[in-house]
Amino acid sequence: MTRPPFPTAVIFDLDGVLVDTARFHLAAWRRIADELGFEFDDEVGEALKGVGREAALLVLTRSGGVELDAATAERTAQRKNRYYNESLATLDASAFLPGAEAALGWLHGRGIPIALASASRNARTILVACGIEDRFDAIVDGTSVPLAKPDPAVFLAAAAAIGVDPSEAIVFEDAIAGVDGALRAGCRVIGVGDPAVLLRAELTVPDLTGVDWPALMGRA
Ligand code: BG6
Ligand code: MG
Repeated sequence: MTRPPFPTAVIFDLDGVLVDTARFHLAAWRRIADELGFEFDDEVGEALKGVGREAALLVLTRSGGVELDAATAERTAQRKNRYYNESLATLDASAFLPGAEAALGWLHGRGIPIALASASRNARTILVACGIEDRFDAIVDGTSVPLAKPDPAVFLAAAAAIGVDPSEAIVFEDAIAGVDGALRAGCRVIGVGDPAVLLRAELTVPDLTGVDWPALMGRA
């Protein structure tokens, strides 16, 4: 299938793209590393982004040379989620990252299909807390697709849910795992963050205010 000249749909990651929650995930993992007695490394922090909870725990413990049995790993992942949820308790619309609310409004106002593709099982809680659940034509998250990024499954499911071929969708991602998963799905990808980290994205913006939506989508 030949790619249309402009994307016909947009797929957003949530944490670190639309809302400022990536730092809460990192703070919770840092606390777990402290408890397990090793130092949290910022480079490992990048590798934890976009990755599902259990897989992230494995990456973290490996980085600290720690091995947990299955039961301890499960309890530790639950504890991390408790810490994370403590920081979500006061979350509201002030957590939007720059340009996020305006982007959703612009796309929604033109009837452009919008999907969420998040690895998080807390995604819906966040969307509700920020009052943006109704902006999405489809919500695909860690509760609906167990295979986390960099597997392409979450992006394939998101494209299917809004009725577009993955090649017609443009994905916004802040995580290396997310950029790789979206590319594997056959989507175009714009990185949100540092171009030196998100090397495989076709373009990287510091945040969504850096996107010229009419030019990107070929719409006035
Ligand atoms: C992703 C985050 O969106 O969700 C990861 O970038 C996180 O850091 C993953 O591990 C799973 O989230 P949760 O909320 O289900 O633990
Ligand atoms: Mg993210």
